[in-house]
Amino acid sequence: MLRELKGFNAIITGGSKGIGKAIAVELAREGVNVAIASRNIDTLTETANELKKFGVKVFYKETNIAKQKDVQRFIEDAYHALGSIDIVINNAGVMKNRSFLEVDEEEFDQLFETNVKGIYYVLQEALPHLVKQQSGDVINIASMSGLKANANSSIYSATKYAVIGMTEGIMQEMRKHNIRVSYLTPSAVLTDLIGETPLQEDTMTHPEDVADVVISQLKLQPRTFMKTAQIWATNPTPKE
Ligand SMILES: NC(=O)c1ccc[n+]([C@@H]2O[C@H](COP(=O)([O-])OP(=O)(O)OC[C@H]3O[C@@H](n4cnc5c(N)ncnc54)[C@H](OP(=O)(O)O)[C@@H]3O)[C@@H](O)[C@H]2O)c1
Repeated sequence: MLRELKGFNAIITGGSKGIGKAIAVELAREGVNVAIASRNIDTLTETANELKKFGVKVFYKETNIAKQKDVQRFIEDAYHALGSIDIVINNAGVMKNRSFLEVDEEEFDQLFETNVKGIYYVLQEALPHLVKQQSGDVINIASMSGLKANANSSIYSATKYAVIGMTEGIMQEMRKHNIRVSYLTPSAVLTDLIGETPLQEDTMTHPEDVADVVISQLKLQPRTFMKTAQIWATNPTPKE
């Protein structure tokens, strides 16, 4: 039997739009209190106001997850605003489509600092709370690009391979604390991240579909978990 999520407290990085927003909305619909972080305060505020309509506690703070001080402030303030941390969704990420020879060092660093080091900063702050309570969930949003690299996204792929490696290690360390650490590897999802798409939008995976997988994972009884899931569109169809 699946469990209820009502009353849990969740942190979602990049919760202002795309996949992160869809996850925040579905969690709030389940009665989960949510804390969201991203850089653009206008989008963040707009999403926070939408989340409040579900009658849950909503905390939000302008945060660049590539900056350790920002992350420390966000997690500390979210912890005090919500009272505990039960669920951490590491979702914030950036992607650039560029051939390897076009990627300068600044862009290389930005990709790694956001997609990989951002997760390191968040979990360094949040995991001690979960360990203390001997329970909790961490779900890291990796990508199919972390399982198979393609031309024009080599560095993005490298960050997602790194996310998977880091997650697998943390998962093994946390099981003894009854903390479930998992990762998802979606294929293309209809968000701003991918920009113009040659596919018919209704045949692609939507952010809400990824959120459904997250909710399903969280609703499993705590004794069991889904270590990872590959999320594919069933029949992605090119535009006419
Ligand atoms: N869309 C896809 O096809 C796809 C497929 C597989 C995996 N993913 C992964 O899914 C995650 C979400 O992607 P998405 O498609 O939903 O992208 P999106 O629509 O561009 O949303 C990205 C979110 O992350 C936030 N963000 C980016 N950099 C940040 C930073 N340095 N600090 C704090 N927040 C930051 C953005 O807000 P601000 O810009 O305001 O900071 C936004 O809220 C990413 O990790 C991505 O790699 C996406």
